[in-house]
Amino acid sequence: MTGDTIDGADRAPVLAILGIGRVGSTLARRAISVGYRVLVAGSGSPEQIGLLVEVMTPGAEPRWAADAVDEADVVVLAAPFSRLHSLPLANLDGKIVVDVMNHWQPVDGDATGIELLDSTSETVAAAVPGAKVVKSLNHIGYHEIEEDARPAGSTERRAVAVASDHPEAASVVLQLVERLGFDAVDAGPLANGIQLEPGMPLFGARLDRDSILSVFAAEQDAA
Ligand SMILES: NC(=O)c1ccc[n+]([C@@H]2O[C@H](COP(=O)([O-])OP(=O)(O)OC[C@H]3O[C@@H](n4cnc5c(N)ncnc54)[C@H](OP(=O)(O)O)[C@@H]3O)[C@@H](O)[C@H]2O)c1
Repeated sequence: MTGDTIDGADRAPVLAILGIGRVGSTLARRAISVGYRVLVAGSGSPEQIGLLVEVMTPGAEPRWAADAVDEADVVVLAAPFSRLHSLPLANLDGKIVVDVMNHWQPVDGDATGIELLDSTSETVAAAVPGAKVVKSLNHIGYHEIEEDARPAGSTERRAVAVASDHPEAASVVLQLVERLGFDAVDAGPLANGIQLEPGMPLFGARLDRDSILSVFAAEQDAA
């Protein structure tokens, strides 16, 4: 893979995906298919997920979560939101962190023990102040990551929003989203990630780039 830049070098970022459930395994499979090196972790040991990885995400490399983070350039949080504090948060310092998590009431309940800010990603960013948090890929169903991916230029290509307070991190994730097969839309600051959450207009909606941009423009007009 060429054209990716990480830490000033011309190479593709190494991805760590924390959570190898529905979203994590689908993202891992898709990322491997487009050329990324992918490390994956569940809540336990690499051995515990060995067979799952072999069957569901061949080519992914199982790790302990903390080791996956240490080895990666970009860390994708794909665990239940209520499990936030079980993730190796201290290791995320300085990393680009893609928050794919949603506060999903049937699974997470009231996420007791987590001080909720306005949006889930601001909550994540507050828990890992040294990380460059990016909200993305949470507003698309796990099965659609493979079903809806299309080559660049395809008329029916779906768009995926990317929100972050760190432009250089946003740029890496915009490129990741494009490579995964979606039109990547810069949605501005992390606080805009609220528009991607359950119950909001972008959540679960198959939209193109212009439609996503018009949702943010309407929000800005209303403010
Ligand atoms: N399902 C969707 O379509 C969808 C779409 C967009 C976003 N999301 C969001 O993505 C997240 C994951 O959803 P999902 O449907 O993929 O859930 P899931 O199928 O239940 O998988 C959750 C995964 O997280 C792992 N996990 C839990 N604690 C962990 C820890 N401390 N370190 C590493 N891994 C840990 C679990 O591993 P163990 O089995 O070892 O505990 C499991 O592999 C949620 O926040 C959800 O709201 C879901």
